[in-house]
Amino acid sequence: MNVYIETYGCQMNVSDSGIVGKILTDNGFTLINRIEEANVILINTCSIRDNAEKKVKNRITELNALKRKNKIVIGILGCMAERLKEDLIENYGVDIVCGVDSYRKITDLIMDVNNPNYKKVVNDYFSSSQIHSIETYDDITPIQMDSNGVTAFVSIMRGCENFCSYCVVPYTRGKERSRNRNNIIKECEYLFENGYREITLLGQNVNSYNYNDTDFADLISKVAAINPLLRVRFATSHPKDISDKLILTIASYKNICKAIHLPVQSGSNAVLKRMNRKYTREQYMEKINKIKTSIPNCGLSTDIIVGFCGETQTDFEDTLCIMREVKYDYAFMFAYSERSDTFASKKYIDDISPLEKNERLTKVINLQRELSLTSNKNDIGKEFEVLIEGVSKRSPDKLFGRNTQNKVIIFDNKGLNKGEYVKIKVTDCTSATLIGEVTV
Ligand code: SAH
Ligand code: SF4
Ligand code: F3S
Repeated sequence: MNVYIETYGCQMNVSDSGIVGKILTDNGFTLINRIEEANVILINTCSIRDNAEKKVKNRITELNALKRKNKIVIGILGCMAERLKEDLIENYGVDIVCGVDSYRKITDLIMDVNNPNYKKVVNDYFSSSQIHSIETYDDITPIQMDSNGVTAFVSIMRGCENFCSYCVVPYTRGKERSRNRNNIIKECEYLFENGYREITLLGQNVNSYNYNDTDFADLISKVAAINPLLRVRFATSHPKDISDKLILTIASYKNICKAIHLPVQSGSNAVLKRMNRKYTREQYMEKINKIKTSIPNCGLSTDIIVGFCGETQTDFEDTLCIMREVKYDYAFMFAYSERSDTFASKKYIDDISPLEKNERLTKVINLQRELSLTSNKNDIGKEFEVLIEGVSKRSPDKLFGRNTQNKVIIFDNKGLNKGEYVKIKVTDCTSATLIGEVTV
């Protein structure tokens, strides 16, 4: 049977699709890249904002049209499977629903799809059992989905228990669990031996990794020690948990990339408190300053939510102000989207109008564009070591890669190959990309 997997949402989902892919191929299924040839279409979904769910619902409607022509099975995986459960079968006509901790059941679900006596939904099934708090798919080496063969994702933990008041993740992904350290190292070694040169260690809050007294700083140094030619990155850090030990570890290994994604969400203490982020603006800035002094030229990026419940004009300006103060190289910016069942949806009123949210969003996007441009212009004339990831999509005669700060650099293809390191001098830039030339 041919299975096509389509992935939405965060990097954890990309990594999870690889777990599902591995389980399926080990059981005789074939993964394919052309949806037209599929017997089974699995959609790995995201619930983080309303528009993420809407996109998938529209996609299901499109696929249902395809289903009327061909006999195909449509399955929903991921966070929407956890949140919407039977609703997806009853109201959206999908055939199976499989939650994030139930992927070991995926082959049975597909095989039994035509048997009326079998369940079509397995997530509520598992959440009542132990699985939800222990499953880490530890013994499974995921397929690197849609990979360029150079950069890979490795999940080191699952779930999240931070309960930021706006966020669905603790409800869709369950309790926080750390994966066995030895299996993580084995997987990273395997990837290096197979030509991968950059690994991103993944978790919703990697700083709270803990496995038999191995903390995240210990783990990342072990991964970095595999080979100096293997770059290591990680995502995401919660500002409340980023430790001095981790900052010093990043500083002391050349191959741990000098880029930290530290989502601030808001620059206002009142909003941060309502968001239940557990840090103040001052504490956040302390961490940033520590990073800036301990890791010179560290890339800094963030996530920002505008228009959260009760965000006044002054609160919003505090966000613009902290962005200027940190001078982020990059940011992911969102308008607040109320999610049912979260603390915020129960306790606070979603009182900023969609129009106002959009205006604020436009303002942060414009400010970030300026900050990114300034940061990139600062790099003109500098030389960076770049790991080549492949041919540039926009200009086929050019290659692209990233420097340790995670900035994309485009340069002329002089017969080099992906997976190689090359020294590039930056000659020009846009707000999104550096442009350079090979120096060695
Ligand atoms: N675990 C990561 C974030 C995962 S979600 C962390 O805590 O950093 C990615 C981003 O989506 C969040 O950082 C936040 O900026 C945004 N987000 C989460 N819930 C949201 C909501 N209800 N509305 C708008 N943006 C949201
Ligand atoms: Fe959501 Fe907060 Fe957990 Fe991130 S840390 S996944 S924002 S609850
Ligand atoms: Fe989305 Fe779930 Fe990731 S809600 S952001 S796919 S953890």
